[in-house]
Amino acid sequence: MARRTLARYLIEEQRDKGIITGDLKLLLEVVARACKAISITIGKGGLGGVLGEAGSDNIQGEAQKKLDVLSNEILLEANEWGGHLAAMASEEMDLPHLVPHRFPKGEYLLIFDPLDGSSNIDVNVSIGTIFSVLKCPEGADLSTQQAAEKAFLQPGRAQVAAGYAVYGPTTLLVLSVGDGVAVFTLDREQGQFVLTQENIRIPEESNEFAINMANQRFWEAPMQGHIANLLAGKQGPLGKDYNMRWVASMVADVHRIMTRGGTFMYPMDEKMRAKGGKLRLLYEANPMAYLIEQAGGGASTGRQRILDIVPDRLHQRVPVILGSRLEVERAVACHSA
Ligand code: AHG
Ligand code: MN
Ligand code: MN
Repeated sequence: MARRTLARYLIEEQRDKGIITGDLKLLLEVVARACKAISITIGKGGLGGVLGEAGSDNIQGEAQKKLDVLSNEILLEANEWGGHLAAMASEEMDLPHLVPHRFPKGEYLLIFDPLDGSSNIDVNVSIGTIFSVLKCPEGADLSTQQAAEKAFLQPGRAQVAAGYAVYGPTTLLVLSVGDGVAVFTLDREQGQFVLTQENIRIPEESNEFAINMANQRFWEAPMQGHIANLLAGKQGPLGKDYNMRWVASMVADVHRIMTRGGTFMYPMDEKMRAKGGKLRLLYEANPMAYLIEQAGGGASTGRQRILDIVPDRLHQRVPVILGSRLEVERAVACHSA
């Protein structure tokens, strides 16, 4: 049987199902091409001089790695000239990047975490790219970078597509255009993404959870209570033993959940309270929550559905609990008890 490439999948979503526009198809092909370029760059590792620090800080006050900066540049350069975008925003840039005047503008907004899991780059553990696509509101003011920020402040449920690439033993692209979740594997010889899984469904229950246990003493009481229930195992209120996994790359932890279920949690803690949490709403929590919900899972802050949050700034942060639907409900129940 003929292999279904990403190009063919997108044509079918556009022409046969009418779910995406021609411009959105183009946008997603360009993002995939950029992810392929990032994958090649990462693959050079120590031979290509791409490891280590960039020597600069981003707007979050985090030290940038060379690959954070390179991946950001690859995504910007790939996307700015195609005519499909109104503006882009990124973890690595304080303000939105406007499409230069010499290029036509389109109706979409693209926002990304160019390199997720930066602490894993130099130790050769899976890392990724996360992206989210929104429609640019009619009449949005894109005259300056400052003004353009407002166009991005839409709740996650308004996303028209979201996805991530995992640069692991294989490079995968996981995508949703609101029609379920599909996984594409990069065929390195042919240089193209090929559909390897469609309509992913996350098991409703699981016995695996992912959390940075080192932060335990800083969590709020409801999260302390929930994790205590999980750790109590068969003898506890949930009556089953749990297993823990923590890659520390959100993409890799989420991809494990996409594959076999489980929960991923980055709760509020005392150290992070002033910032609002650890993970960023617009380019980490929202795209992942969209994908997880598209696969039948749940995504909450503990007190609110992530996709319903109306953002008030580009780099806003939120607590995150996502994954197997019933397991997420158990964590949420601890917050309302
Ligand atoms: P980024 O590399 O884009 O800054 O994101 C890192 C995030 C996320 O990928 C991961 O789940 C978490 O930070 C890791 O946090 P710890 O340092 O607490 O393990
Ligand atoms: Mn990240
Ligand atoms: Mn990042």
